[in-house]
Amino acid sequence: MRFNVRALALVLAGCAYAQNSTYDVLDYVDQLIGTANGGDVFAGATLPYGMAKAVADTDAGDNQGGFTTENANVSGFSSMHDSGTGGSPSLGNFALFPYTSCAGDDVNGCKYPKTSRKIKYVESSVKASPGYFGLELVSGVRAEMTATQHTSLFRFSFPAVDASGATASPLILLDLTDLSDSRQDNGTIHVDAATGRMTGNARFIPSFGVGNYVLYFCADFKGAPIRDNGIFVNTRASADVRDLTLARSINGYPLPGGGFVRFTSLVRDTAILARVGVSFISSQQACSSAESEIPSFDFNSTQTAAGKMWRDKISPIKVSTNGVQASILTNFYSGIYRTMVNPQDYTGENPLWQSSEPYFDSFYCIWDLFRSQMPFLTILDPATIGRQIRSLIDTYKHLGWLPDCRMSLCKGYTQGGSNADNVLADAYIKGVSDAIDWQTGYEAIVKDAEVEPYFWSIEGRGGLDSWKSLGYIPAQDFDYKGTGTMTRSVSRTLEYSYNDFALTQIANGLGGKESDIEKYTKRSGNWQNLFKADQTSRGFTGFLQPKYLNKTFGFQDPITCSNVDPNPSSVCSLQRTAVETFESSIWEYSFFVPHDQATLITLFGGPSQFVRRLDYMHDQNITYIGNEPAFLTVFQYHYAGRPALSAKRSHVYIPDYFGITNDGLPGNDDSGTMGAFVALSMMGLFPNPGQDVYFIIPPYFESVSITSPITGKTSTIRNINFDAAYKNIYIQSATLNGEPYMKNWIDHSFFTEGKVLVLTLGSVESAWGTRVVDLPPSLGKYQGFGNSTGDSNSTAEAGNGTVTSVAKRATVFASEEVEGLLGSKTGAKYWATEEG
Ligand SMILES: *[C@@H]1O[C@H](CO)[C@@H](O)[C@H](O)[C@H]1NC(C)=O
Ligand SMILES: *[C@@H]1O[C@H](CO)[C@@H](O)[C@H](O)[C@H]1NC(C)=O
Ligand SMILES: *[C@@H]1O[C@H](CO)[C@@H](O)[C@H](O)[C@H]1NC(C)=O
Ligand SMILES: *[C@@H]1O[C@H](CO)[C@@H](O)[C@H](O)[C@H]1NC(C)=O
Ligand SMILES: *[C@@H]1O[C@H](CO)[C@@H](O)[C@H](O)[C@H]1NC(C)=O
Ligand SMILES: *[C@@H]1O[C@H](CO)[C@@H](O)[C@H](O)[C@H]1NC(C)=O
Ligand SMILES: *[C@@H]1O[C@H](CO)[C@@H](O)[C@H](O)[C@H]1NC(C)=O
Ligand SMILES: *[C@@H]1O[C@H](CO)[C@@H](O)[C@H](O)[C@H]1NC(C)=O
Ligand SMILES: *[C@@H]1O[C@H](CO)[C@@H](O)[C@H](O)[C@H]1NC(C)=O
Repeated sequence: MRFNVRALALVLAGCAYAQNSTYDVLDYVDQLIGTANGGDVFAGATLPYGMAKAVADTDAGDNQGGFTTENANVSGFSSMHDSGTGGSPSLGNFALFPYTSCAGDDVNGCKYPKTSRKIKYVESSVKASPGYFGLELVSGVRAEMTATQHTSLFRFSFPAVDASGATASPLILLDLTDLSDSRQDNGTIHVDAATGRMTGNARFIPSFGVGNYVLYFCADFKGAPIRDNGIFVNTRASADVRDLTLARSINGYPLPGGGFVRFTSLVRDTAILARVGVSFISSQQACSSAESEIPSFDFNSTQTAAGKMWRDKISPIKVSTNGVQASILTNFYSGIYRTMVNPQDYTGENPLWQSSEPYFDSFYCIWDLFRSQMPFLTILDPATIGRQIRSLIDTYKHLGWLPDCRMSLCKGYTQGGSNADNVLADAYIKGVSDAIDWQTGYEAIVKDAEVEPYFWSIEGRGGLDSWKSLGYIPAQDFDYKGTGTMTRSVSRTLEYSYNDFALTQIANGLGGKESDIEKYTKRSGNWQNLFKADQTSRGFTGFLQPKYLNKTFGFQDPITCSNVDPNPSSVCSLQRTAVETFESSIWEYSFFVPHDQATLITLFGGPSQFVRRLDYMHDQNITYIGNEPAFLTVFQYHYAGRPALSAKRSHVYIPDYFGITNDGLPGNDDSGTMGAFVALSMMGLFPNPGQDVYFIIPPYFESVSITSPITGKTSTIRNINFDAAYKNIYIQSATLNGEPYMKNWIDHSFFTEGKVLVLTLGSVESAWGTRVVDLPPSLGKYQGFGNSTGDSNSTAEAGNGTVTSVAKRATVFASEEVEGLLGSKTGAKYWATEEG
């Protein structure tokens, strides 16, 4: 056989490429990643973008996504959740809780309030796969769940006798209280005596926003004869009462209340199924969804159908598994999986306005989503991105503004700019078009740029008068047009600048908007008005600084609110006493000029200085990869003609900061933005969101192929000299569709037209992608390149003088201690409390 193997190897080499697609992508999805250490990930059963999300809820501090693996107690099994979010725990409504029997065979022998009924689970019993979640409580009850779009199906398997030896007579309660105890007045339940069906609703408040929402439910049970049923209030239950309406109570904690149904003794191993439909419209709609989606309570087929939907969504991305550890695959596919959990498709469930447009919710928050998750889905699931954008535009039409953050039918808090502008621009320039009303989308973005809302903490932008007249957001602005938190003047200036640039991206394509393009391109340069050329920090000169209305600079230490801020009392989030940058430092925000890196490089003293500063920021742990503003900084070396350093930096962070353990995420996943960061980085194409630009680094696999769900064409990136130990991570040369390709970036037609990018790798930095003509587009002109000490030369050809100097430098860093670059993991909790 030996010669045959060799012959096969030659054949494989000869036909250039053998795609190993024999694996099941779902084998590499681990939903438990991010269920500890503040990842806040939803680990339970859901469809892609599903509304019903069933999981066990625990009492741990970081239970925003419901379930955590930190040795916590389970308080119930509820049907609605968000994933990866900060703020308060989201949703977690209408939890069920099972008892094998009640003490003394009396319904009052069971414990009803969640604070007293909660109980540990058997750690080794937790099982999760796409469309499925299950665990065993220490009481011996096994709880499993699966889901359809609006319905959860639970399967509770009870022991034949309970811990005390009493014969089982299971009781399942349904609680009107939600995960974060936000229930308001008038929580209502009705229990049908004959069938045990429970219907009702309650009003709750959102986890990171304003207003409130009403959710309805419809619960049915099957599997054993019903013994009795009724309602409970606080610690007492009665089988004689079946209707209940509760006030919230007066002490800040909602009065426990709900319904129960009790079953007769079980045949051993009989399971009881509980089907819970949810709706924002009515109990009737919750019931009809449940009846049509899971008519026969068939757990197995519901689970199988959910798994198939996930497989269909994820399978368009296949990689070569050759040589790579399973953990790399698990990291990749679990990240991809998490990009389709939030936002959620609530089409047909929006009580706020009548429309035939799709309605998505849990854009939580776009400040996070625009940077990685939505660009990723534009590649893998452009049809859904199209529907999400139609929903954003329809929200503008009916509520007057594009959302910046949205959850549970409510407006969430804006963290910086009007970043839905970036999302629309990104999809527009990448050709997402299906039934999208781009004229109205453009109108919405212009409104963000021109009209200040009454309350700009939840939509639009503040300080627009100053923005227009002064060209920056002043610290201590005079702003009577609208109200919002008067902080973050530096980061808002940066984000508003980019939002104005995003506007021009659409204006360019719509045509006939020359004056808009001129006006907003100019405004997109407003960030320069906060550049203070003589501001120093850590040996570097030239940083952004806050500026007052009188055009004099204020001062914020550029290290404040960084990951290494020496001042423990810095206030960095949405507090009214917070500083002029949101959740990060001037050090990091000074790099946030995604549209004009050329000008920034010049202001920072040229490409060498730019690279030195970027290195210093990462090496000194000033930036923290656990928060989204860090994402782009990993790849900004590309603009300085050093794509090799982006590749190297990405390997510093992945997988070391993104493990596949339960505590593997560096902070909140923020819907699936961390997952998308991992997936895009490993694919080897990371977007500059809002522009038709993907930075090229070698994929973490020998090859990656992506079949465009729109065109059906398959694009492939293939590494030659791939080594799974990641020593060869430097591109020496490249071809695109067989032709030499020198640019260090590529555009979206790569995916839609099914192109083939072949990268030849080596262990040292090369001249590939280093010339000015190789760099991604930038508004300003690249200057100062061609430094004889090594920066690329705009006129030099690759393979000439540039090579010598770059190769020299490459030797230097190849010998560096990579360990010395590893950053801190300690920042995880730093941001956890307020960020959405
Ligand atoms: C393809 O992948 C499967 C599953 O990971 C593996 O068992 C098989 O050995 C791979 N085949 C090749 C040719 O790499
Ligand atoms: C679980 O519940 C027990 C009993 O109330 C409590 O002592 C313990 O702190 C809880 N565990 C967690 C992680 O909250
Ligand atoms: C509760 O019901 C009363 C009477 O219908 C109504 O006035 C009140 O607004 C309701 N409160 C909530 C929070 O739904
Ligand atoms: C569903 O049932 C079939 C037949 O009993 C079984 O082979 C299959 O493994 C089950 N599927 C799941 C997901 O449990
Ligand atoms: C500008 O305004 C700031 C803040 O009010 C003030 O501290 C500073 O003295 C003013 N500078 C001048 C030159 O008026
Ligand atoms: C050129 O390289 C030298 C030495 O590294 C450096 O001091 C200088 O800042 C560089 N100039 C530019 C324009 O990057
Ligand atoms: C770039 O390289 C060319 C050819 O080597 C040389 O003539 C030119 O002076 C260089 N330009 C700069 C700005 O270094
Ligand atoms: C490199 O550039 C020098 C002048 O700058 C030129 O003489 C030489 O022919 C070039 N070499 C190649 C391989 O292009
Ligand atoms: C950065 O953080 C890592 C991990 O905590 C640590 O090992 C390293 O020493 C830090 N580097 C600096 C310069 O503080």
